[in-house]
Amino acid sequence: QAILLADYQPFPFLLDHVALHFKLHPTQTRVTARLSFAPNPAAKPGQDMRLDGENLILHALSLDGRTLAHTPDATGLTIPAADLPDGPFVLETEVEISPETNTSLDGLYMSGGMYCTQCEAQGFRKITYYPDRPDVMARFDVTMDTDMPVQLSNGNPTGLGAWHDPWPKPAYLFALVAGDLVAHSDTFTTMSGRKVALNIYVRPGDEGKCAYAMDSLIRSMKWDEEVYGREYDLDIFNIVAVDDFNMGAMENKGLNIFNSKLVLATPETATDDDYARIEAVIAHEYFHNWTGNRITCRDWFQLCLKEGLTVYRDQKFSGDMRSHAVKRIEDVLALRARQFREDGGPLAHAVRPDSYVEINNFYTATIYEKGAEVIGMLRALVGDEGYAKALNLYFDRHDGQAATIEDWLKVFEDATGRDLTQFKHWYTQAGTPHLTVTDDFKDGLYTLTIEQKNPAAPGQASKDPKVIPVAVGLLNSDGAEVVPTTVLELTQERQSFAFEGLASRPVPSILRGFSAPVILERESSAEERAFLLAHDTDPFNKWEAGRALAKDVLMRKVIAGGDTPADWLTAVETVTFDETLDPAFRALTLRLPGEDDIAQSLHAAGHVPDPAAIHSARRAMQGGLAGHLAKRLPALIDGLQTPGPFDPGAVAAGRRALRLAALALMARLDGGASAQVAMQNANSMTEELGALAILLDVGQGDDAAAAFRLKWQGDRLVMDKWFGLQVVSAAPDRVAQITDALTKDPDFDWKNPNRFRAVIASLASNHAGFHHASGDSYRLLADWLIKLDPVNPQTAARMSTAFETWPRYDADRQALIRAELARIAATPNLSRNLTEMVGRMLGT
Ligand code: ARG
Ligand code: ZN
Repeated sequence: QAILLADYQPFPFLLDHVALHFKLHPTQTRVTARLSFAPNPAAKPGQDMRLDGENLILHALSLDGRTLAHTPDATGLTIPAADLPDGPFVLETEVEISPETNTSLDGLYMSGGMYCTQCEAQGFRKITYYPDRPDVMARFDVTMDTDMPVQLSNGNPTGLGAWHDPWPKPAYLFALVAGDLVAHSDTFTTMSGRKVALNIYVRPGDEGKCAYAMDSLIRSMKWDEEVYGREYDLDIFNIVAVDDFNMGAMENKGLNIFNSKLVLATPETATDDDYARIEAVIAHEYFHNWTGNRITCRDWFQLCLKEGLTVYRDQKFSGDMRSHAVKRIEDVLALRARQFREDGGPLAHAVRPDSYVEINNFYTATIYEKGAEVIGMLRALVGDEGYAKALNLYFDRHDGQAATIEDWLKVFEDATGRDLTQFKHWYTQAGTPHLTVTDDFKDGLYTLTIEQKNPAAPGQASKDPKVIPVAVGLLNSDGAEVVPTTVLELTQERQSFAFEGLASRPVPSILRGFSAPVILERESSAEERAFLLAHDTDPFNKWEAGRALAKDVLMRKVIAGGDTPADWLTAVETVTFDETLDPAFRALTLRLPGEDDIAQSLHAAGHVPDPAAIHSARRAMQGGLAGHLAKRLPALIDGLQTPGPFDPGAVAAGRRALRLAALALMARLDGGASAQVAMQNANSMTEELGALAILLDVGQGDDAAAAFRLKWQGDRLVMDKWFGLQVVSAAPDRVAQITDALTKDPDFDWKNPNRFRAVIASLASNHAGFHHASGDSYRLLADWLIKLDPVNPQTAARMSTAFETWPRYDADRQALIRAELARIAATPNLSRNLTEMVGRMLGT
């Protein structure tokens, strides 16, 4: 049942050309496919032809015009070698499918009355019989027969509903859209002078919400030319927004399809975080045109080849557009919250896994975000110039190919002369390395000794040491930098690095910029952390010092109780009111570590986390901070207003973030009176929603929430936020009951993934509530996974990761969660997706 990397074999036939015709109908769509094959000289001759196909009704099958009588099975169709000619041949099929009843949102389906597709990873086999694997690349011509006014597919248009894509592509990049849509249009002229028509298609009424997405697209196209020398390669680039979508978005050639929440934005309806996400995902999908489409993956084990690289690229783009320091901090926060969590539990897997049951279960933080970190490390090791040379060689050598991680590493070796054998462990070994650092100073010689431990992961007991770039800088006691950032290359289990000629013992700033995705353990005093928070020249480590300090304080509070130490309060106060610092950075420093983060750290330190204790300790710490800053908060809040027309830029967003952080503290002192005023005067969704969240958090938000609902009833995306907030802000002992009530709300459309996630994923993110000792939340989540699975197995499986942290907790909670996982596993006809996830979590 498991697919193995070691079993890879090329497809025995080359596919030169594909002609598809769609006669669209909600329940009886007819798909005709003409596939022009030839034997693949790289494969063993005389093999059968196996085509993938699921939920298809076969109406006609012929080869070079002669009818064949083979009967498909549940997963495809085999044409025996005896029926296949030695030379080229044309296979023609006609199948029937039902988009309207396709609730999996995979393949061809309907959303809000329009036809649309999602084919990655294996959706094309729900459209027609086909070798549905990324190393089979073909040129496509598509025609369709429908009354829908807008009819789109990949490539360049050749008539209404007729499309020609000159670039050979795998089936997962196929897309078709037909609907009653309107376009927000613009143009872009590429660096070589090609004029490209740009369109963002949305439902009528939404055309006024596309300006920011279009602006982001144009900036992305320009950035890829300037930074990577990559230009767009068709006459038209289309984006379509759909309301029902399992993931964020999809990079189909020339026809990106997006979850509407990552396209539609106005100041009144979208938060600053939404704007930033839209900019990042528009860029991500656009960048895939080179890293993913022109060069694709040989097989799905190589998924990080396109995803890690494209995430790395979109992170740098966002940094260039906004602030590298703030972007890096946010990316590391997300990496720790999602990838470290995954890497430390039963779902840990390598950046390039070597086996899977259901590939859709591997669109993970490890493949995406750790995959991006690995590229950042590679760049740190070979330098900016080496990286540029390697990337140029990659594009030259592999354009038009389906490549592997071996190919990727080889271009770096060839371009830079560096041996990457040891570096490759980052791709093949799961788990987060732990670094311990000790230091020594004598006669002007400062020595850092670094030790790496690579913990066991599922199926991987012992591991070899990795190459780890550790960026280090040294400060003297006046706060001056005496050794600027230097990248140490740790290649052994334990290694010492010496710095000579120092006048006094320096303060080390280690792992600057978070130069490797590792857990750094170093005995460090509160004084040293406060010193780095005040003086470090590396903005990431400056923030990290404050973060580590806050974490130490909070963890000690959870374990031993007691007061919030004054030195932490003073250190945070200094940063909060330091006008020379970016407000966004100050807002990040004011934000306390989350409850799940603390649970993760307590577990790593050998404690059993108590969710209720973490919750109350964190609230007490917030209260202490509010009390300490009390006198200075009103002026801060006042001074950070952003009057005038809305500006989605990073500077204004940073001011709003700091203002809301201050309002949240203020609410602990004034019972929400200031937040109440802020909500009334809000001139953006950021402020309106932020203030509502604060009111709900202090238990004063019921009226405001009701008014918000009345005001925004007609806007699906804003209502998702409303649903989510009710659950996120619910008290731990009430969250199961509140969530259950929301699922009975007439507006809870559980088949819409955005709405489902707004409620159910929020339940899982309410740490103390989800892990309430009653087990009510566990049961409620399991009930909903069981209900969703037959309708939308991809989203059900993804949501099940809420349970992945079970080994952290006490025996009672472990037993409760395991019982729910066992109950899910015992459900008849459970999908392959959810079966695999539950099995991995239970270790069965
Ligand atoms: N390639 C898409 C992206 O990262 C994600 C598509 C994932 N789809 C899925 N069904 N797993 O932009
Ligand atoms: Zn992607």
